[in-house]
Amino acid sequence: MNKVLGAAAVAALGIALPVAGHADGAALFEQNCTACHAAGGVGTPGLAPPLVSHNFWAKLGDKAPQYISGVIAAGLTGKINAGGMDYIGLAMPAQEQLSDAEAAEVATYVLQSFGQVQQSVTEEQVKTARATPPAHADLRKMRKGE
Ligand code: HEC
Repeated sequence: MNKVLGAAAVAALGIALPVAGHADGAALFEQNCTACHAAGGVGTPGLAPPLVSHNFWAKLGDKAPQYISGVIAAGLTGKINAGGMDYIGLAMPAQEQLSDAEAAEVATYVLQSFGQVQQSVTEEQVKTARATPPAHADLRKMRKGE
């Protein structure tokens, strides 16, 4: 019973976070990303990094849409440090099940709701990333601001 209530509380929190007008992004995130990144994008230690961080997304700045499009298009492997924790030997699969429009919607949701930044991701940016998927090493450089 407690477990059920706990899950309901987490779900309620997940619904409280999104910025108004991005309900589709929230639903897409719930369906495609929470298995690894957890409800609310808080991450799962040992499985997937947190996506909730204003500093992380603000630091990427103008590159944020390109970065998240690249991760969705190509997936990501290799050691990264997120939220002060190292994530090693993990693999994010390319999110091929999403249409370009859906990928743009969920990516915009992550930036605006979890990153609290203004950028949005367009269908065109996803299409470009999928046409020429970035190397994981290049994505890791981009996330470090290199
Ligand atoms: C099967 C588990 C899994 C699923 C499903 C998944 N991810 Fe990931 N994601 C990961 C892992 C693992 C990493 C880190 C990869 C690494 O360590 O190199 C990651 C990394 C990321 C990053 C980069 C974070 C950073 O700090 O640089 C973003 C952005 C991201 N995922 C977004 C998403 C979105 C959006 C979805 C849903 C459309 C999604 N992920 C679905 C496992 C997953």
